[in-house]
This record gives sequence, C-alpha cells and structure tokens, in this order.
Amino acid sequence: MLVAEEANRVTELADVVTPPSHIAIIMDGNGRWAKKRLLPKVAGHRKGAEVVRKCVRECSRLGVKYLTLYAFSSENWKRPEDEVKDLMGLLKHYLNNEIEELNQQNVRLRFMGARERLSPSIVELIENAEQKTGGNAGLQLILALNYGSQSEIVKAARELAREVRDGRISADEIDEQMFASHLYLPDIPDPDVIIRTSGEQRLSNFLLWQAAYAEFIFVETLWPDFDEESLSRAICEFHKRERRYGARP
Ligand code: IPE
Ligand code: IPE
Ligand code: MG
Repeated sequence: MLVAEEANRVTELADVVTPPSHIAIIMDGNGRWAKKRLLPKVAGHRKGAEVVRKCVRECSRLGVKYLTLYAFSSENWKRPEDEVKDLMGLLKHYLNNEIEELNQQNVRLRFMGARERLSPSIVELIENAEQKTGGNAGLQLILALNYGSQSEIVKAARELAREVRDGRISADEIDEQMFASHLYLPDIPDPDVIIRTSGEQRLSNFLLWQAAYAEFIFVETLWPDFDEESLSRAICEFHKRERRYGARP
C-alpha cells in the first residue's frame, strides 16, 4: 500500500473509533528537532507550539474530552536561563494569541502545576484564560506548567496531615479517593493514554499517581514533527490494547 494511502486509512480509522476520553502527552524532542536543522533551540520550541495548536484542534474534532499537555516541568528551571526565558516568552505568546480561538472552539483551558515560581504576568494570563473559557463545554485542555508529580503528591500529603492534626479527619479515613481529591485537578479523570514523543521512555515526573492504569505509547517522532496522522496512529494503537485493571478479561 502506498504511504499516502496508508496514512489516509489510519486517519479514517481514528475518525470512526471512539477516541480515548483523556489523552496526556509528554511533548519531547524540540531541542533535537532544532539541532538536526542547525537551528537555535527556540526554533524547535516555536514549531512545538504550532503543533500544540494543530493537536488541540484535532482532539476537539475527534471528540476527545481531556487533553493534558506537559509544557514545562518543575525540573525544566535547571535549563540555561536563555532557554527558560524563551519558553516563558512563547508561553505568554500562546496564551495571548490563542484564547480567542480556543474560546470559539468551545475549549476550556485549565492548568496544573505550582504557580508560585511563574511570573505575575503569566499567572494573570492563566487566571484570565481560566475565567474566560470556564463555561465552555467542549474539550478541556490542561496545560501542565511548572508541574512536578512528586511535589503534587507531597502537597496532597501535607494538606491531609493538616486536616488530621486539626481533628477534621482521622488518619484511617484517608483512602485513594480522598488522597486524589487533594491533587491539582481532582475533577479530571485519570488519563487513558500517555503518549511520549522523541523516543524517550520515561515519565519525567509526569502524572505518577494518575498514570496507575494508563496505556503508554512511546513514539520516535520528535514533537515538532507530530501531526494529525501521528495522533491517529496513537489512537489506533490504544484501541489494540486490552485494559484489564488487574481483573480477568
Ligand atoms: C520538550 O523538548 C520541550 C520542553 C521540555 C519544554 P526538549 O527541549 O526537551 O527537547 P530535547 O529533549 O532537548 O530534544
Ligand atoms: C519532560 O521532558 C518535560 C516536558 C516535556 C515539558 P524533559 O526533556 O524535560 O525530560 P528529561 O529531562 O529528558 O527527562
Ligand atoms: Mg527533552
């Protein structure tokens, strides 16, 4: 079969199957994409942001309910100052320029991560986006920003410890559900599938708790090259998996 024909078939297939309700993506490989082209890293991040736009539109079209994108980890502050500046600049640009269109697409924008270290102007853009799109009933787009799963879990543990100390709950009452209700976005169901681009096969501190029964899909494609067809392929791959949750199928 010709490559183009095969690509069409994959896209058509993804169109007819029920998409996963919640897709989470570790968007990796911007740096390597730029390096391969002898371009500065920022060019890779810029192209990566364009891919976010396409990916959101496609997930909306397919009827995905939640799309979580790992945009900046709590460890990414360790990168060179210039790169962090470029990433924050692109983020601002994205938030400034995309809100209108996201709103028109009925997308609800949400955020997970620690807001303390983000600049006041970014926090303002985040709050504005949450407020502006808060009533939208379409795709929920969750941006993980300054996000680290271990500190999210520690935050939950601290809050529960305080509640026990103050006598509001007893330690024995704490169960998985109560614990999860102290994570960043407790109303959002766990991801069905976690996709990581660029060939790396690790979570890098992403959704450690929420990934308990997620399907993992690792693809070689670098994030700036990820497109509608790559998404369709991942959805088709997800549909081949048998999810057992520890029980007999
Ligand atoms: C992902 O691309 C973007 C962020 C982590 C913000 P990278 O910048 O990690 O790309 P590689 O891994 O260096 O290729
Ligand atoms: C994970 O990618 C974070 C994001 C995609 C935002 P990294 O490129 O930072 O992960 P490591 O350092 O390779 O584990
Ligand atoms: Mg990387």
